[in-house]
Amino acid sequence: MGPPYCITLRAVQEAQRRIQGLVHTTPVMTCSSLDALTGRKLFFKCELLQKTGSFKIRGALNAVKSLPSDKCTAVVTHSSGNHGQALALAAQSMGIPAHVVVPTTAATCKKAAILRFGALIVDCEPTDKSRAEVAAKTLEKTGGVLIHPNQDPAVIAGQGTIGLEILEQVPGLEALVVPVGGGGMVAGIAVAVKAIKPDVKIYAAEPLNADDCYRSKKSGVLTPNLQPPITIADGVKSSIGPNTWPIIRDLVDDVFTVTEDEIKSATRLVWERMKLLIEPTAGLGLAVILSSQFQEIVREVQNVGVVLCGGNVDLGTLP
Ligand SMILES: Cc1ncc(COP(=O)(O)O)c(C=O)c1O
Repeated sequence: MGPPYCITLRAVQEAQRRIQGLVHTTPVMTCSSLDALTGRKLFFKCELLQKTGSFKIRGALNAVKSLPSDKCTAVVTHSSGNHGQALALAAQSMGIPAHVVVPTTAATCKKAAILRFGALIVDCEPTDKSRAEVAAKTLEKTGGVLIHPNQDPAVIAGQGTIGLEILEQVPGLEALVVPVGGGGMVAGIAVAVKAIKPDVKIYAAEPLNADDCYRSKKSGVLTPNLQPPITIADGVKSSIGPNTWPIIRDLVDDVFTVTEDEIKSATRLVWERMKLLIEPTAGLGLAVILSSQFQEIVREVQNVGVVLCGGNVDLGTLP
């Protein structure tokens, strides 16, 4: 039990130096109407305005820039979502080829974004087995390195830079609500924030339909989702894993789950009141703060940060 974890505060600080000037310091926005609705003072960290439309470029860039020079032949991943796009751009900016393994069923807009950032798409069947097999073959063929979307320590450290930034931007921060999928973001942030300001609470936000992090915290044992989850918050379908779990177990104060309807209405509220085009995964934080469990359990805390983690909405799906 307990440390050492796969990353330290120092790794996050080094990541910040490594990616400085290559990613945006995203703004923190406030909204008096949402403050009134929640009875708190909310600070929205706008990662939807980050390069590639999500925080994922932080981790991807840190991972690519940390590769030893003899390993820089190619990078490979099997995420068709935000990490795939982020790794594509990170590799492009370093002049390294990126191969992204994508199921044949993936949305055309996602494939288009990956191609736009200069990566090569490798088709696989829409099963975990095919994904793993095709990724292994691609690694063998290219001699490249696999950059895991949420368990790679350099990725986790890169995501932690959100924590360093928001502590500077909001000196009176008392709590931070962070969506959790594989846990790279919340684990990186927790390591950074708890090392600098241990009193700041870190809460993870998860769909009820993908509640592996919640169940793991309650049981004290890593408990991945057994079936692929069905949720509108498609960025958080992955389960937490062996590198993020010990950090989440020890440093995340609590995990809150919300229903699909709660996610949809919070997402819509951000669109309407803040005019920010977030993707549904980014609605998780506000959905949690509005939930009755949060209102009951988290009473003392006023200044709450919310990570609006991404804005990659398929506009074709909007009315
Ligand atoms: C927009 C968005 N938010 C949150 C997450 C979850 O991040 P993590 O897997 O590091 O928990 C992802 C992951 O793809 C994402 O794309």
